[in-house]
Order: sequence, then C-alpha cells, then structure tokens
Amino acid sequence: MDKSTIEALEIALEATPENLLLRRQIADGYFNIKEFEKAKNHYTILLQQSPDKDTKLALIKCYQKLGNFSTGLIIAEEMLTEDRSSEMMVIYIQLLIDDGQNSEAIEQYKAFQMQHEEWYNENLEYQLKIDSSGNPHGLEGEIGGEAYDPFLEKPSIDFSHVGGMDQVKDEIKMKIIHPLQNPDLYKAYGKKAGGGILMYGPPGCGKTYLSKATAGEIQSKFLTVGIEDTVDMWMGNSEKNLHAKFEIARGNSPCVMFFDEIDALGSKRNDLKQSAGRNIINQFLKEMDGIDSNNDGLLILGATNSPWHMDSAFLRPGRFDRIIFVPPPDQEAREKILKLMLADKPVEKIDYGKIASKTNEFSGADISALIDLTIEEKLRSSMKTGKIEPIRTKEIITQIKRVRPSTKDWFNTARNYALYSNNSGIYDDIVDYLKL
Ligand SMILES: Nc1ncnc2c1ncn2[C@@H]1O[C@H](COP(=O)(O)OP(=O)(O)O)[C@@H](O)[C@H]1O
Ligand SMILES: [Mg+2]
Repeated sequence: MDKSTIEALEIALEATPENLLLRRQIADGYFNIKEFEKAKNHYTILLQQSPDKDTKLALIKCYQKLGNFSTGLIIAEEMLTEDRSSEMMVIYIQLLIDDGQNSEAIEQYKAFQMQHEEWYNENLEYQLKIDSSGNPHGLEGEIGGEAYDPFLEKPSIDFSHVGGMDQVKDEIKMKIIHPLQNPDLYKAYGKKAGGGILMYGPPGCGKTYLSKATAGEIQSKFLTVGIEDTVDMWMGNSEKNLHAKFEIARGNSPCVMFFDEIDALGSKRNDLKQSAGRNIINQFLKEMDGIDSNNDGLLILGATNSPWHMDSAFLRPGRFDRIIFVPPPDQEAREKILKLMLADKPVEKIDYGKIASKTNEFSGADISALIDLTIEEKLRSSMKTGKIEPIRTKEIITQIKRVRPSTKDWFNTARNYALYSNNSGIYDDIVDYLKL
C-alpha cells in the first residue's frame, strides 16, 4: 500500500471511525511505509477499541521504532502479567536492551532460563554477551575476529564438579582426552583419534553438564551446537550453518563441540522436509569424517534424550562410535551431587547418605530443585528472625515430597523401546538397568 492509498483510506475512516478492520489496515500501512508516528496514533485508538495482543505488539514495535522504549516497556510489562511466554520474554528483554538496561536484561534472561531449562535465544545472548548458562563470557580479543561465536565459551567447571558418571568420564578420557594428549602413541598403535561419544538417557542427569566439564578438564574451548542454530529450513542454510560451526571449532582447537538434542538433526520432529533432513545428516557426517578438513583437536560429544529418534547413519564407525547410557545418579553419586550443591551454603552437619537414600530416581536436576526449595524455605524463616540459620538434614528431607522425580516418564518410554525395538542390542544398557 502506498501513501496515497493509505490517505484515501483515512478519509473513508473519518466516516466510519469505529471500523476496526479499516483502522488496522491504515495503521499497518503507515507502519510499512515507516510513518511510525501515524501508525502509533492509530494503534493507540485501536487499543482502546479492542485491546488484543496483536495491537499491543504492534504498538510496542512502533514505540521501539520511535525510540520511546520506556513506553514500550510499560506495555510489555503489562502483557507479561498474563502471558509469560518465551515470545513475550524475548520482546521484553529486547526492549530492556534497547533502553540501555543491560544488567536488568541479563537478570531477566537468567531468571527465565532458570525456569525453562532448555530455553535460550541466540540473538539476545549475542547482544548481552553472555553464554548459554547465563554467564558473561570473555569476549576480549575475540569479538570482531572471524572465529567468534556467541556459543563459544571456556568453562570453569571440570570433572571434579560432576558427581558420579564414572563410566562416562572414563570413556571420555580413553576415547577423546588421551588421544588428544598423546597423539603419537595412538598413531603408533594405528589407532585413529577422532570420532565422538554419544550420551543418552533421562533428562537432567548431567549430559550437558559433563560435556561442559570435559572442556574444563582439558582447558579447551566449548562450543554448543543446538538445533536452532543450525536448522534453517526455510532458507536452506542448514548445511552452511553446520559447516560454519565446525570451522569455528577448528579455528579454536582444542575444542569440545557439543551437539545437544542431536536426535533433532535430520529427524521428522522439526517438520523438516525429508530431503532437508538427509542433507544435514550428510553434511554432519562429512564434517565428522574430516576428509576435506583437519579435525585434530576437535572433540565431539553429543547428547540426546530420545535415541530412538536418531538416524542410524550417526552411529556408524568413526562417527559416534561410543554410545553411552547415562543413568540417573546412584546412591553414591547422589551423595556426591548433594555435597557439591551444598558446598558453599551454610549447613549443619548433613547426613548425606540419608538424603541420598530417600531420593531414589532423582536426576541431578531434581536434586538441584530439592536444594532450591529447601533454601527458599530457609530464606523465608531467616527473613523473620533476621538471622542466617544453617540448613539441616531434616529440612531437606521434608522437601523431598515436593519434587517429582523427573526420570520416571523417560523410563516408561525407554522400557518400550528396550523391550520391542532393541535391534542390534543398542538398548542393552537400559535392559540391564531396568532388569528387564
Ligand atoms: N552428575 C551431576 N553432578 C553435578 N550436577 C549435576 C549432575 N547431573 C546433573 N546435575 C545438575 O543438573 C543440571 C542439569 O543437568 P544437565 O547436564 O543439563 O542434564 P541433561 O543434559 O542430561 O539433561 C546441571 O546443570 C547440574 O546443575
Ligand atoms: Mg542437556
């Protein structure tokens, strides 16, 4: 719609000012030709006539364009009281950034991420210069450089921060850390370094956490590749994006590349066209095989909660040739995780064994939730007394019933696959674990 058409519509609107549809068209028209002041005036009237979400969002955009961020923020805050969707949060946090409130933006980003574990937004993280766990990361010297990626970080945790998972730690050492540290030895025995390890298991049991710790363990960089970063189905850019990620990792070697939710690559789950799915799998395999490029110093880890959705092409030798089941932490591991999580908190002498024995089926994330709940309670009572009181064993135990072990649902699904589609024994570990 050009300007003269919009103006003609305006004249028509004068005769029927209550015509919402017409006013909306005019407002949208002005917005499109970048007459934001006029668009804003019409949206404001619309808002009084029909205060719906679209109108509010359009109005926010106008205020953004007009540089009046604080008014945009007021509307967004009002909307958030009813709708705390990730879509709204992204808009809100963007407004905070636009308004120069970066630290508030980071706070809000982190808080939302705490509630929605798997959520992140690459664009916001880029602007806020934080990493996927919400921490600021050292950008000095990297920004502007070719090899910069907002998901590149240098983790400060190592294996000692991860409770249990001994078998996985061992595999990672043998399969990817030692070859990296002793390349000649491996060559002498004709063992090719490379390939990757795939972890699968119930959510919250440390797959992501351990991957990060692997990078910390060898003081290398860590690059997370999430499905959102790579799959760009409309533009057909997936393969290019994936290649770019590998190049970034190669340019920053040694580097642990971590493919989270790797089952989603090439699966039907994302409504990818079948062929697009194939292409990206092929690209992935080509990168991993490293024929066209040098993969020295590249450690590849993948994780999935749904191994049954994975394309079997990933599992051939030289690719993910170790597939490891990551079970929920056992008694000993739970004790260790509890100790790690309470290490810097005020505590009385804690009976870790007792708490661990009452948290069967808890994931690491569930234990973390348990501690959070206990601390919240503690804060509440400390507010009243004004004193910092140590956390006691029985206070943690009281909260156990409030946490539902999140591994249960996963095992219900896994049981079926282990029983009925355990071709080539891929789920033998689950069979053993469940004593099927
Ligand atoms: N073995 C563990 N040791 C210490 N913390 C753990 C462990 N497992 C899980 N956690 C805690 O739970 C959180 C979620 O774990 P995560 O690695 O994201 O699970 P997954 O990737 O398997 O779904 C971690 O950020 C960490 O705080
Ligand atoms: Mg994970």
